[in-house]
Amino acid sequence: MSVVLGIETSCDETGVALVCDGVLLGDALASSMRSHARYGGVVPEIAARAHVDALVPCVAQALTAAGLDVTEVGAVAVTAGPGLATALQTGLAAAKAYALALGVPLYGVHHLAGHLAADVVDAGPLPNPLVALIVSGGHTSLLLVGDLARDPIVHLGDTLDDAAGECFDKVARVLGLPYSGGPALDWAAREGDAGAVAFPRPLLGRADAPYTFSFSGLKTAVARWAERHGAPVGARLADVAASFQEAVVDVLTAKAVRACVDHGARDLLVVGGVAANSRLRALAARRCEAAGVRLRVPAPRRCTDNGVMIAALGDLLVHAGAPASALDLSANPAAFLRGAMLDSDPVASPR
Ligand code: KG4
Ligand code: ZN
Repeated sequence: MSVVLGIETSCDETGVALVCDGVLLGDALASSMRSHARYGGVVPEIAARAHVDALVPCVAQALTAAGLDVTEVGAVAVTAGPGLATALQTGLAAAKAYALALGVPLYGVHHLAGHLAADVVDAGPLPNPLVALIVSGGHTSLLLVGDLARDPIVHLGDTLDDAAGECFDKVARVLGLPYSGGPALDWAAREGDAGAVAFPRPLLGRADAPYTFSFSGLKTAVARWAERHGAPVGARLADVAASFQEAVVDVLTAKAVRACVDHGARDLLVVGGVAANSRLRALAARRCEAAGVRLRVPAPRRCTDNGVMIAALGDLLVHAGAPASALDLSANPAAFLRGAMLDSDPVASPR
């Protein structure tokens, strides 16, 4: 048995957790989201400084919650990419320091692979194989996943331009909603009529690439609508928000379920910040049931960035006997998802 300390600092959340044998022992989460609100988006330097302030207190809080002493940590897992360069570096530096001081292995993991492992501590081991839909602020991908700790991850399709979360954030801004846009839009849409405005469903035609996404045209369509009609308020705002949200989740769920059917996969996993979206969760459940596909979506608090997902992935790697990362591992802000761990030398890894 080896207690894994997980550290996540790729964006504006400082996440720390302790996981052992698939069991969550304790965790802590600090967010600098409020400091970014007046700028309308994450300011990397503010995020990095907030991580420096929050890291050691979060580790202490997670250890206290677990009733453990730091000397009982048996391995350290840390997000090494992708993410904001300076934010990643704070977590990586802390993780290396803990690993070196404690004389335990370091696992530099891929942030998106962490998202895939987010609910292992709640719902048990992941089905193998499965189709995964990752929908975060920076990424939108449909994947074929085998053994997460051992097998390469196959990309069925990705987004050609904006990520789904990025699209939510930008459209929220156009509609005058506060940062962070995704949750604000989800909330604004709850009483709206999703059929009020016929926004486009990008790449959903018969001739389109079946698993590829594109969201920048949809974002532009909402901006054009706002130019023509003025910024909506009240019930009109709810209708536009619901109509936009419906277009995004219609495309996401249609392609995800199709990928399952085409590949004979019985399980769909939906993860990443946008997986917290209430309408995406509801429509995915309905369409999966109709197609005979089992749906797995983490609890909303495990969809957005946290330390538990990184500790849980580290725990899987320890159990798989994965070789540890070198202590000179660099952060890779643009790391492509190919497996659970990042290569030691990002410069030498072709995309
Ligand atoms: O995974 P995540 O926490 O960070 C990244 O790795 O990017 O995802 C953040 C994204 C943001 O774009 C945020 O607006 C979106 O997830 N998000 C949502 C909701 N909650 C978070 N989008 C739509 N509806 C939500 N309820
Ligand atoms: Zn994330």
